[in-house]
Amino acid sequence: MSDFFEVLRTRRTVRSYTDEPVSRQDLEELIDNAILAPTGMNLQPWAFTVVTDRAALRKINEAVVKMLRAPDFQKRMENERLREIVNAPGYDIFYGAPALIVISGNDRVGSAAFDCQLAAENLFLTAHAKGLGTCCMGFLMLSQDNPEVARLIPVPEGFHMRAAAVVGHPDVRPDGPSERNAPPVIWVE
Ligand SMILES: Cc1cc2nc3c(=O)[nH]c(=O)nc-3n(C[C@H](O)[C@H](O)[C@H](O)COP(=O)(O)O)c2cc1C
Repeated sequence: MSDFFEVLRTRRTVRSYTDEPVSRQDLEELIDNAILAPTGMNLQPWAFTVVTDRAALRKINEAVVKMLRAPDFQKRMENERLREIVNAPGYDIFYGAPALIVISGNDRVGSAAFDCQLAAENLFLTAHAKGLGTCCMGFLMLSQDNPEVARLIPVPEGFHMRAAAVVGHPDVRPDGPSERNAPPVIWVE
């Protein structure tokens, strides 16, 4: 897909992937396009960790799901729907995707989180334009302090995870555009 507006309009979160691995070349292209995002003072305060080791992905998933299902965590989960999702038997935060890309930001740079999240959107759109699917990994972000997760997702010293996505070949693509409410817009004229 090459029309930019078509890519923008049709991107959806993908939650079902085939077993086909994503090629190294495709993963590199996603990162090449991610880093075209703007950054504060062009500091580019990011690093990318790409996990394609299936055993590592399985272990990360186990650690995160265990954390999400812990009673103290469940108590703090204000949304009933979220509780249902994470407690569903066999819940896999990665939905079987073969690759995880974590974007970590330099703690010494004030704009790092913002910069990494802008890079993530470039990555989502590039993946979609190439026929790949992505899912933003919010649950993974909640496990920043989990030692097992930190061990399996190495980031440079002084960096923290700021955005993450799984990438894969879509098995099932959601139908049609995602619903959007009209946002509040305040015009100051
Ligand atoms: C910050 C953020 C965190 C997200 N975390 C998750 C997640 O952990 N698991 C998941 O299945 N989807 C996650 N999503 C995907 C959203 O649910 C999805 O973008 C939203 O429902 C809109 O659907 P669309 O992407 O198909 O337009 C996340 C999205 C964002 C922006």
